[in-house]
Amino acid sequence: MTAWLGDWLNLFLRWLHFIAGIAWIGSSFYFIWLDRALRRPDAPRPGVEGDLWLVHSGGFYQVEKRRPGPGEVPAALHWFKWEAMLTWISGIALLVLVYYLSGAFLLDPAVSNIGRGTATALGIGLLVAGWAVYDGLWRSPLAHRPAIAGAISLLLLAACTILLCQVLAGRAAYMHVGSLLGTIMVANVWMRIIPAQREMVAATQAGRAADFTLGERAKRRSVHNSYMTFPLLFIMLSHHYPATYASALNWLVLLLLLVVGAAVRHVMIGAGPRARWAIVPAAAAVGAVVLIAGRPSSATPSGGVPSFAEARATINARCLPCHSAYPTDATFGPAPSGVAFDTPESVARYADRILARAVLTEAMPLGNKTGMTPAERQLLGRWIAAGAPLR
Ligand code: HEC
Repeated sequence: MTAWLGDWLNLFLRWLHFIAGIAWIGSSFYFIWLDRALRRPDAPRPGVEGDLWLVHSGGFYQVEKRRPGPGEVPAALHWFKWEAMLTWISGIALLVLVYYLSGAFLLDPAVSNIGRGTATALGIGLLVAGWAVYDGLWRSPLAHRPAIAGAISLLLLAACTILLCQVLAGRAAYMHVGSLLGTIMVANVWMRIIPAQREMVAATQAGRAADFTLGERAKRRSVHNSYMTFPLLFIMLSHHYPATYASALNWLVLLLLLVVGAAVRHVMIGAGPRARWAIVPAAAAVGAVVLIAGRPSSATPSGGVPSFAEARATINARCLPCHSAYPTDATFGPAPSGVAFDTPESVARYADRILARAVLTEAMPLGNKTGMTPAERQLLGRWIAAGAPLR
């Protein structure tokens, strides 16, 4: 596909993904909040478990949570499901567009020893198998021992993360862990939560008593989803942060940040003050991430200050094939992310970003396509440490 068409498609898919995701997470959080804020009415009313008043955008709302008796559910019932499906469809489309169609972001020759076809099959296979294994586990008798089933789920997630980081480019590995979490979340909504709700609605509409244990089981999947939300949101942003995905221990950084996200969820919407202990692992994990990925040792350059001519020769050889108004590598179109190194001033202007992406992390050149050597990274590091002089 031509680069410019891909870019426009990328924009519109990402925009949709973003809007649908906000709508989905917004409605989930609203219901989590509702459940916590509802109070039993002072004078009990039949079927009413709790109620509350809200004021928003100039109007007052009264909401009741009910256990409807037979025949009580009206025909016009509002469901919340398309947000989840749209988020997933647009997300998978982006995965295909950004990672599978071009392959440039998918593999990193320094770590990957598989081809694009194998990597694509692995990625898609993981999403399908990941859901099957997770769902099977939580439908098995082990689901009655949530601590064990939870521990197994986390170990499997850690194993997938480590495996992906060994075979895919860091960015792609992160995005596949995110796609796995997102796929499980959407499948939870569509294949477990919605069918249980449908069953309960059908029962009351047929004049039978609804089986509320179905609702309880659906609720468990909803709780799982809520723990996956913050980790997934980090992964959605992660490609802006090469210090995470391009770190040598990128799998550990990701696992620690998943702990942070889940722990924050626990404190925020857990069982009140009793949930506050989770701040401790969250803070410990943040500390560990900063120690691991904070400042790689290559940040302390030793040796003399190279001349601008040397620095520019390196950039011309290793970066200019893509980062130019007239790129010789046609994969991305002119100046990816708006960055071109055609003039001496532009090289100096982007010195900080060059440091971040080609010296502190090895996120650039992308997939090290132009074969940059460690000595060249050191050279750029020393030039930038000396203030990026144009002499
Ligand atoms: C094979 C093509 C390719 C080569 C070679 C390449 N880049 Fe990039 N670069 C990209 C693409 C694609 C993006 C946009 C995606 C991204 O940011 O990861 C990008 C984005 C960037 C950005 C902007 C994002 C930010 O973090 O500010 C900087 C800076 C950058 N590259 C620096 C470099 C440097 C320095 C080199 C050479 C050492 C280099 N690149 C070599 C393809 C390349």
